[in-house]
Amino acid sequence: MNCNCAEKLKQKLEPFLKNYTEGSLIPILQKAQEVYGWLPDDVLEHIARKTGVKPAKIIGVVSFYTQFRTKPVGKNLILLCQGTACHVNGSAEIERVIRDILKTEEGGITEDGKFTYNNVACLGCCSLAPAMMIGARTFGKLTRESVVEILNEY
Ligand code: FES
Repeated sequence: MNCNCAEKLKQKLEPFLKNYTEGSLIPILQKAQEVYGWLPDDVLEHIARKTGVKPAKIIGVVSFYTQFRTKPVGKNLILLCQGTACHVNGSAEIERVIRDILKTEEGGITEDGKFTYNNVACLGCCSLAPAMMIGARTFGKLTRESVVEILNEY
């Protein structure tokens, strides 16, 4: 990765790394992901060095939890729910619309770097099915038309 990782980490992660105790690895990884948007290898290596946790253990944790991303993402991360309620209410059609507009596969980044879209299991707002999140915002009762409008807003 081409960036001043060490410096960024120092500023934003150092307090977490300093106070590392067994069981605080997940919050550290969450914080690192918040800083970078994903978890590059050199960041994971830095965390391993600073905490003394074996790299293999860190990689194990990162790959176990779906919340952690090991690939870069676009500026806006779209999480499209494919849980049962959303599936029954047309999430497949919503996915087609998103793919058509963004012209990218799931997990890819749009050419302008603005979006990455991922399918996820239940977002926890089934009464709004079909639903998606963009960053921290939730959008529900999606239709072809509303998805186009929402994406145009960005
Ligand atoms: S199934 Fe989509 S929010 Fe629960």
